[in-house]
Amino acid sequence: MDQLVFIRDKKFRPLIGREKIAARVKELGLEISRDLETEKPLFLAVLNGSFMFASDLLKEMKTDCEISFMKVASYDGMSSGSMKELIGAGQEVQGRVVVVLEDIVDSGRTVEYIRNDLSKKGAKKVVVATMLFKPAAFRSVTPPEYTGFTIGNEFVVGYGMDYDGAGRNLDEIYVLA
Ligand code: IMP
Ligand code: MG
Repeated sequence: MDQLVFIRDKKFRPLIGREKIAARVKELGLEISRDLETEKPLFLAVLNGSFMFASDLLKEMKTDCEISFMKVASYDGMSSGSMKELIGAGQEVQGRVVVVLEDIVDSGRTVEYIRNDLSKKGAKKVVVATMLFKPAAFRSVTPPEYTGFTIGNEFVVGYGMDYDGAGRNLDEIYVLA
């Protein structure tokens, strides 16, 4: 975990190691299990970035739960913040307590869109669990209810997160060097 990695044209250094990640994910699993013990929560993992977090977190859940997936993309990548659903949440969210799983909350626009969408589709309650949160970049209303680690306004890869499509397979989190 002290090695630099090179992805495309950039150099990254280790930020959060495997053991720290595993310990924190375990804590989050216990916390969410306790908070939502009687709710049979529906986890909704946001593709692509959250696949590794979702897999590890679900293994730490101590209560009955379900998982589904969604995928969104911003329309124009610029200021509008409009999103389109590539894989939308369906009827399964109706009346459910939904835990949205994200790799990282940056501006917060993605999860804001998803919260509104799920409420419109009849979710009873929506909370967000994210591996990483960048408070300095946050421009939205409701911060994540569950956060693995808070980081600065830096670019990270690994543990599901990518730089230009690469680096998602790394089992630790790296930051731009
Ligand atoms: P937001 O809508 O600005 O909160 O952006 C959230 C999405 O942007 C995340 O789900 C990631 O896919 C991506 N993202 C934001 N920051 C980073 C980063 O540092 N590394 C990799 N992806 C990021
Ligand atoms: Mg993402």
